[in-house]
Amino acid sequence: MKDVSVEIRGCNSKAELIEVVDLCDAAFPKTPREYFERHVLKDKTLDEKDTRVLLIDGKIVSSVQVFPRTIYVQKEKIKIGGIGNVATLPTERGKGYAGLLIKDSLDYIIKKGYTLSMLTTSINNYYEKFGFQTILRTIANINCNEGKNHKEISQFDKTNDLKNIINIYNGFNSGKIGTIVRDEKYWLSQFEFSGEDKDLFLIYESKGEAMGFIRAQRKDNYITILEYAFNDNNTLVFAKLIEELSYMTDINEFKLFLTKEEEENINRRFSFSLKDEKDFMICFLDNSLSMKIKNELLKDRNLNFWQSDFF
Ligand SMILES: CC(C)(COP(=O)(O)OP(=O)(O)OC[C@H]1O[C@@H](n2cnc3c(N)ncnc32)[C@H](O)[C@@H]1OP(=O)(O)O)[C@@H](O)C(=O)NCCC(=O)NCCS
Repeated sequence: MKDVSVEIRGCNSKAELIEVVDLCDAAFPKTPREYFERHVLKDKTLDEKDTRVLLIDGKIVSSVQVFPRTIYVQKEKIKIGGIGNVATLPTERGKGYAGLLIKDSLDYIIKKGYTLSMLTTSINNYYEKFGFQTILRTIANINCNEGKNHKEISQFDKTNDLKNIINIYNGFNSGKIGTIVRDEKYWLSQFEFSGEDKDLFLIYESKGEAMGFIRAQRKDNYITILEYAFNDNNTLVFAKLIEELSYMTDINEFKLFLTKEEEENINRRFSFSLKDEKDFMICFLDNSLSMKIKNELLKDRNLNFWQSDFF
């Protein structure tokens, strides 16, 4: 058999990142190229080296991206390495290349001092080999019988509303389990890579004060809620934002991931059904992480990871 040279390392140029976009585009035939352009090229929180590649005789054949993030776990802030865009060229599969890169990425995450890794997948048993465990989440299917126009609601405007949105987000999400700690750089970058429908980013104001927001994405016959937040535990704000989305789009069905705790936010106003989802996995990489934190992250329907933060 012909000897091949195998090299594993981080990307070191924009040209290599574009090669990774080409690779992901070839590996995921159902996902549009535009998705990878956003994800690989527009996230300013990433270093070129965070996109890990395996080269055979100098050509990139496999990729894994490591997303440096920090999550809230109640009062603690935990540094994590999210994993995404795991891909091998169709002609090079089954040779262990993705496996080598995943191991390299976990080492890379440990070297950066991060304590755990997370990913979403449909091939859970593949990732179990590397120490990942599946977390049970739930998707709620909400029915909003009647859309309504609310005068307190307007479209998000980056220049005027960003500071308010950040404050509402921080108040709502610090102290939860798994939500991302976001600074302004992350927010601005996320607007570029999230793929949300900009017209469905709505903000609720009362007496001139911003009280809540919602971000969403249109699908064929339903709307995905990417995230929401509101002040003062005021669940009515959430209900009105949903009604407004329904009014704007003429769509009554909404889907969102919902923790057990958050069911309270919707069950007074809307009828809904729940479906289990096993697409989320965690790998603990640091023995010093307390059992309490691990248990909170592993508990069924406890983890709150907004879809706008996907990797
Ligand atoms: C998944 C993928 C990255 C694996 O790349 P690879 O270089 O062939 O990976 P390896 O050689 O290390 O391992 C191959 C393993 O992946 C498993 N695998 C690949 N696709 C799979 C699928 N759709 N369902 C279940 N297992 C799958 C193979 O069964 C094989 O398992 P084994 O090690 O027990 O034999 C590659 O198949 C790919 O690019 N797929 C399309 C994109 C994708 O689905 N990425 C993962 C997103 S979470």
